[in-house]
Amino acid sequence: MIQTAQQAYPAPRDLSYDTPVLVTERLVLRPPHADDAVDLAAIANNRQIAEMTSRMPFPYNLSDAHSFLEGCLAGEHEGYIYAITLADTGHLIGFAGLELRERSGGFELGFWLGEPHWGSGYATEAASALIDQAFRSTDAERIHAVCRTVNARSRNVIAKCGFAFIGLDEIDTIAAGRVPVERYSLDRAAWLTRKER
Ligand SMILES: CC(C)(COP(=O)(O)OP(=O)(O)OC[C@H]1O[C@@H](n2cnc3c(N)ncnc32)[C@H](O)[C@@H]1OP(=O)(O)O)[C@@H](O)C(=O)NCCC(=O)NCCS
Repeated sequence: MIQTAQQAYPAPRDLSYDTPVLVTERLVLRPPHADDAVDLAAIANNRQIAEMTSRMPFPYNLSDAHSFLEGCLAGEHEGYIYAITLADTGHLIGFAGLELRERSGGFELGFWLGEPHWGSGYATEAASALIDQAFRSTDAERIHAVCRTVNARSRNVIAKCGFAFIGLDEIDTIAAGRVPVERYSLDRAAWLTRKER
């Protein structure tokens, strides 16, 4: 039987969770699509990224990309998951999310960028947009963030978004095992104060 391109590769679907497109100065944050798999696998296959996140494996194969995207499309992640793309080209450069995570007891911010895109301020721009979206469209009182104690780049992003340090902890990761982490939180009042400045 002859398969059409559409049968062989289903058309993109939006996440079931309400994830409106967010536009910033240089970025478009949009729901992940099934056809992001090849680009996702290409930028995610990096030990330095996997070891700083809790759920990314290394090596990161096309099948890992497919199962992550299928999980997104099936609504397995409670919260917002965004593909971070460059506004001028549409190029996929990373992912960011605000997920309801039991270990944080509320929304937890997560983000990563493909290594060629580090050092341009994109992570802070994306994270800020997600935080604004969460406080504006939900009644969450605070947002949490967690980073490994060795992750200076992530700590920098978290600090630039206005989070306050709340303590040390340990978490399990796929790529690096059990690791010490720093916990941060940003409450609605602190976010509002920053917005009013
Ligand atoms: C964490 C991670 C996303 C940070 O990326 P990053 O590029 O360092 O962070 P930003 O996008 O905010 O860029 C910051 C730097 O870009 C530079 N920059 C260049 N142009 C800029 C601009 N227009 N605006 C802001 N910063 C700019 C600055 O040097 C800035 O560093 P500074 O704040 O010390 O001055 C990235 O290192 C990563 O993906 N790491 C692996 C996964 C990971 O650790 N995820 C987080 C898990 S908790």
